[in-house]
Amino acid sequence: MDMMTRIAALTADCLVSAWPEAEGLPDAGEIRGLLAVPPDPAMGDYAFPVFRLAKALRMAPPKIALALCQAWNHAEVARVEAVNGYMNFFLNRVNFARETLCAVLDAGERYGASDLGAGKTICLDYSSINIAKRFHIGHLSTTMIGHSLKRIYDFLGYKTVSINHLGDWGTQFGKMICAYKKWGSREEVERGGVNELVRLYVKFHEEAEKDPSLDDEGRAWFKKIEDGDEEARSIWGWFKDITLRDTARVYDLLGVSFDSYAGESFYNDKMDRVVNELKEKGLLTISNGASVVDLTELDADGKETRNSMPPCIILRSDGATLYATRDLAAALYRQDTYHFDKCLYVVAYQQDLHFRQWFKVLDKMGYPWAKDCVHVAFGMISYEGQALATRKGHVVYLEDLLQQAQQKALDIINEKSPDLPDKETVARQVGIGAVVYADLSNNRIKDIDFRWDRALNFDGETGPYVQYTHARCCSVLRKAEALNLPEADAEALTDDEAQALLRLLGRFPDVIREAADKYEPSMITRAVTDIAQAYNKFYYEHRILDDAPGAAAARVALTRAVRNVIRTGLWLIGIEAPERM
Ligand code: ARG
Repeated sequence: MDMMTRIAALTADCLVSAWPEAEGLPDAGEIRGLLAVPPDPAMGDYAFPVFRLAKALRMAPPKIALALCQAWNHAEVARVEAVNGYMNFFLNRVNFARETLCAVLDAGERYGASDLGAGKTICLDYSSINIAKRFHIGHLSTTMIGHSLKRIYDFLGYKTVSINHLGDWGTQFGKMICAYKKWGSREEVERGGVNELVRLYVKFHEEAEKDPSLDDEGRAWFKKIEDGDEEARSIWGWFKDITLRDTARVYDLLGVSFDSYAGESFYNDKMDRVVNELKEKGLLTISNGASVVDLTELDADGKETRNSMPPCIILRSDGATLYATRDLAAALYRQDTYHFDKCLYVVAYQQDLHFRQWFKVLDKMGYPWAKDCVHVAFGMISYEGQALATRKGHVVYLEDLLQQAQQKALDIINEKSPDLPDKETVARQVGIGAVVYADLSNNRIKDIDFRWDRALNFDGETGPYVQYTHARCCSVLRKAEALNLPEADAEALTDDEAQALLRLLGRFPDVIREAADKYEPSMITRAVTDIAQAYNKFYYEHRILDDAPGAAAARVALTRAVRNVIRTGLWLIGIEAPERM
């Protein structure tokens, strides 16, 4: 249990023993939320503002604080002092240091891991790229948020299923075959990869403007794909292979992989079930020839409520299925196959309405697990202040961005530490780390503007900065190995800098759980950044190796704990931790 949680629990007990009869007092959880770290350590390590109790106890806050301090009998944990309306806690710093270090170091790589999720399954739908389109930086967030959430849930003991719900279905594939037949060749597609597929698709649209009959041809080809025509299927499958081959390079660089690539086409033969069920349950209505589920909600006066939504279209008038139909089929399939406790959809917030609509349809179908489907939305990414517009041609391809990142990192390394062994590997880790960190450093719903000078700044709040701090710890540990140090003397860790660091380390397991609860990897990014900053402060304020041997051993142990936690934190957000930089 981390120290804040423990103090909160003890305070809750203390409250009950002081006022056994009182009602409406906060419980440990609420107290945990009220506890604060005073800006000035002289005011204590934690403070509990008691104002919230004044009403229930009908007492003035300073009196409450005083009474609580008198009732406190946990001197081995903390000394308490009443100051105005605050109960200030002064930890027993030696004990705290000893306990925290033991907790971190005994757990090794597993510090913060748990079996919280044992027996539970989480499906994660992320990255979910579109076939025959290039992987651009608009896909970075879904890929990295999803990847990080998968690692976080794995670490907490859940069983996870990562799914790349490929966009591999729709009339555009008929058009592409049509274009390929008219203006393409096998050699050129093999050579040009996705670029060539995109070129063919653009060409199709230019030509179709002059000759609208091409659209019919394209539709006819898609019909053939749907009906399982051998030639159509084989070309379409080949386009898929080409795209996946190209994107595999990006996934390799990012260290991302999937348990399933079941995309939209996988549900082609599973949609009748959705349509039939909707019919049986009386949920389908016809509107302009299309089959839809009505989602208007009326209040008692017959006025539309705020929950009202446009209808969810299930079949177009020509009988074709839609994106939502396929998502419904996929959700049913996933529940049948994986029995998920949660299914997360890491998709841009622009698709908010789409998800709200079909989640509502699931709910209307009577599936109680509809509430376990969650749209994990995120904001937009722009590049150097410029919005991305695929149509108008301003696109930044992810592969180019990652290549550039590695090159820029290599340039910096060549300048800063030209003698570093295996520079290419480190440049890859640092370059990619910089990009991933930039993507996961803010609340996911916020828009991001990616800028090189910000992402690669070794002194700012960046991936390279955290990685550098990790490498600094590794270097201290390498030097310590030669010293044959005695047992650590925890008395040496009672200073403010060491204590601030220990507090952050102690909270780390809570941060992981909170990040999982809120689907928010950025909380881990924040935590490793805070730890790195606190370590650097500690590092500048104190001698580590050339102090009394017991003190040196304690600071080395703290350094080891920091190194472990940063490494785990970076791993959880999908960033590698080089040992030398
Ligand atoms: N392929 C879609 C896109 O790029 C995202 C799919 C998200 N997943 C889902 N089950 N709808 O916009």
